[in-house]
Amino acid sequence: MITTQPQGVTPPIRLLGVALLFSTFFLPALSVDRSNFKTCDQSSFCKRQRKLEPGSSPYRAVLGSAKLSADKLEIQLIDDKNQVSLLLEVFGLNGNMTRIKINEINPLKPRYEVPDVLLGTPIPANLQVTGQDDNTLELSLGGAEHKLLVTGTPFRLDILSGRDLVLSVNSRGLLHFERLRERKDTDTEKTDVPPEGDDGNPGEEEATKEEESKKVDEDEPGMWDETFKTHTDTKPNGPSSVGLDFSLPGFEHVYGIPEHADNLRLRTTESTDPYRLYNLDVFQYELYNTMALYGSVPLLLAHNVQRTLGIFWLNAAETWVDISSNTAGKTLLGKMFQYIHGGGETPQTDVRWMSESGIIDVFVLLGPTPHDVFKQYASLTGTQSLPPYFSLGYHQCRWNYNDEDDVRNVDAGFDEHDLPYDVIWLDIEHADGKRYFTWDPHKFPTPKDMLSNLKDKRRKMVAIVDPHIKIDSGYRIHNEIRSRGFYVKNKDGGDYEGWCWPGSAAYPDFTNPEMRAWWSSMFAYDQYEGSTENLFVWNDMNEPSVFNGPEVTMHKDAIHWGGWEHRDIHNLYGLYVQKATADGLIQRSGGKERPFVLTRAFFAGSQRYGAVWTGDNAAEWDHLKISIPMCLSLSLVGISFCGADVGGFFKNPETELLVRWYQAGAYQPFFRAHAHLDTPRREPWLHGDDNLKLIREVLQQRYALLPFWYTEFYRAWRDAEPVMRPLWVEFPTDVSTFAMDDQYMIGSALLVHPVTEANSRGVQIYLPGVGEVFYDVHSYQKYEAPQSFYLPVTSSSIPVYQRGGTIIPRKNRPRRSSDCMHDDPFTLHVALNLQGEARGELFIDDGHSFNYEQNEFLYREFNYSRGELKSSSLDPRGNFETSSWLERVIIIGASQPTSVTLSLLGGSETPLEFEYDAHTSVITVRKPGVNIAADFTISLR
Ligand code: GLC
Repeated sequence: MITTQPQGVTPPIRLLGVALLFSTFFLPALSVDRSNFKTCDQSSFCKRQRKLEPGSSPYRAVLGSAKLSADKLEIQLIDDKNQVSLLLEVFGLNGNMTRIKINEINPLKPRYEVPDVLLGTPIPANLQVTGQDDNTLELSLGGAEHKLLVTGTPFRLDILSGRDLVLSVNSRGLLHFERLRERKDTDTEKTDVPPEGDDGNPGEEEATKEEESKKVDEDEPGMWDETFKTHTDTKPNGPSSVGLDFSLPGFEHVYGIPEHADNLRLRTTESTDPYRLYNLDVFQYELYNTMALYGSVPLLLAHNVQRTLGIFWLNAAETWVDISSNTAGKTLLGKMFQYIHGGGETPQTDVRWMSESGIIDVFVLLGPTPHDVFKQYASLTGTQSLPPYFSLGYHQCRWNYNDEDDVRNVDAGFDEHDLPYDVIWLDIEHADGKRYFTWDPHKFPTPKDMLSNLKDKRRKMVAIVDPHIKIDSGYRIHNEIRSRGFYVKNKDGGDYEGWCWPGSAAYPDFTNPEMRAWWSSMFAYDQYEGSTENLFVWNDMNEPSVFNGPEVTMHKDAIHWGGWEHRDIHNLYGLYVQKATADGLIQRSGGKERPFVLTRAFFAGSQRYGAVWTGDNAAEWDHLKISIPMCLSLSLVGISFCGADVGGFFKNPETELLVRWYQAGAYQPFFRAHAHLDTPRREPWLHGDDNLKLIREVLQQRYALLPFWYTEFYRAWRDAEPVMRPLWVEFPTDVSTFAMDDQYMIGSALLVHPVTEANSRGVQIYLPGVGEVFYDVHSYQKYEAPQSFYLPVTSSSIPVYQRGGTIIPRKNRPRRSSDCMHDDPFTLHVALNLQGEARGELFIDDGHSFNYEQNEFLYREFNYSRGELKSSSLDPRGNFETSSWLERVIIIGASQPTSVTLSLLGGSETPLEFEYDAHTSVITVRKPGVNIAADFTISLR
């Protein structure tokens, strides 16, 4: 499947890769061609910003210019090197947050401020001046607890919590704001604010200084145009970057700023490139480095035993983040030595953000708990949308299922082999010549019949709809977009054209709300021919990927709606594509049905529109391993619905790797197997009976836990709780968890440590929490925490522990798909803590519509204490009829009762059958038989 190239275009690396791949199946690790992507040194603004060394800031805050309104402080900042002035705005925000904005006063033209990411205007909180001297202004930030100190010369901000300094801004003097200017600086350049104690006319000496500094600026290569490989960025606006530093005293652990193929805990970047945030289609990405990948969320979290905080840098341009620390490189022993002998400095992490354009707009989220930070961030950008129930099941994908017969056979394979699954996927080959919204007339002549067959099995399909549009006058979608003027424009005003899967393609301008509305309307059943209500969508290549563009993406001087450059909006493009698609799926149902849309590119706020996957990984053990920290990083920044291609996209996984990947993937939120076009087929039944059995067990475990996953997603939607969580989120004072990313929690109840090594005989498990207890979910073996131990494993082992003190709802009957389980009965797994107590929740609704927003749901709470399990409503507004009943209660870590009875509200007690296993201390209560919506008590005596 090698598409021919247009003449004169460098062979698209991806297509070449497709060809090369076949011959490289059996080579060891895949590696990225780094020369296709810029280093900081090759990105001129990054180089300029980074050249500035920490020191005394040239900026001073003119305290005399301070204007305070109820929720906002405005102060002018002056760069004493060149007298350019900026406006600093500090906002007190409700819920322990502060917003800091810095922009030019009267810029030559407006600078881009990111729209559509914030839910609305954040709710202000009171700011009050509480003290002042010659060089400092002290304010209380929305309540007495937090104070903001503004220092005049050199300019810096310090945020205190009580008497603790929690964060400083510009304390290393790295504020660097490149003002917009005419191509050749002229005398017309204005100085907005006179330096303090000055009459406003820079003296001769100062004027010369100014000239000099401008000259130095002008001399920098790459300021007015920049060439990378064969591409020249014309930079009509010249240099426009912004940079600022933040110091975090007392913090040694920072996280977030996905997407990188790296550990959960961010590394220091003193001797490497900074972490890069620039949505890119990186062919054969490598692991454990700071290179950019498909998506970006500019939110960084810092955590120590006292508090968690967040820095949200709202900028959609290319961004680099440098991290340094005064303890990096010191061993634990070294740090202890320093501590014992005194004189050790407080550990501190410094973070420096640098963006190519836009303004400085940053939110400091003051926690103090991890959950507070999640809520604060969600109050700004929204929570994870509640996925349709089916989308938490298993997804079977490959590039490609070739035709309708293929789909029918694969679908039947699942039934023949007793494997549950929910969704079969179609990649780009399903469309007619990569014209999305169409079907190949030979391979998929009757899509509606195909979809209807799936519907009969209560299953769904996902088809890919990429945002590059084949330039073809016979293609309706192209003609409409072109005639409406909806394509992104090149710098000369024509439609921007690039090279992607269909060959020559153009790119709809998703930043234009009218374009998005039109795109959404294309998902109507009468527009998207062959589509039905069980067809959902996959948006890929939305970085956007442009095979022949600079760094495989769009030229930065391409022009979007409103005249903004691609440079300004780049990291937002993918979010808009997914948003417009999700809106389309909602609209096609008249606003009734929840959408499912998978995206590869993302930004802050993408959690509102669906799921994300980690792109083109490889069938290598390290790729399996990295899927955990990659999804944990996404979860920390609000994107809970994350997964990695099970089996690995490139290359052919050995069977052991494939099975281990299923075992790990079943315990990650988005669970989809996917494979490259040129890889051998790898459906679960192609690996021998033993492996089929192992995969079946995995799928059954996943399906049994769907009520739990769904409830966790409800909590993510409602309360901004990440579904998959680093251990430190649950055990915030246990320092030994702070850098762990080979195990994690699902909600607060399950601890998972997938096997990610070849030929593994065992794994080292750590169970955190003083006074906590955990139970192996398979054997019910009890472990007191904290403890670390070696767990021997076999090929079927998936080390998963239920935390004592939790109750997990399950549905244990194996079925064909999740939809078939809708009315199935529940089993409650009650794992007692050392106090003999436990608590859990269950959310139920129809699983597909928005009716839960109209209170058609049940949100139940189960509480076990003093030998009584009580079920009650957690949200009395909820009302939903279900025929699901309680089939079994398993109480783990209990002593033997003499009787077990059930009582309904106001009713008499009915005795229940039960068994006690003294070896495992497990009581199995049989058939309480009560409807799951009922208030009941089960009493053990
Ligand atoms: C991209 C996607 C991959 C997909 C392929 C063909 O590489 O990341 O998942 O299969 O394009 O559409």
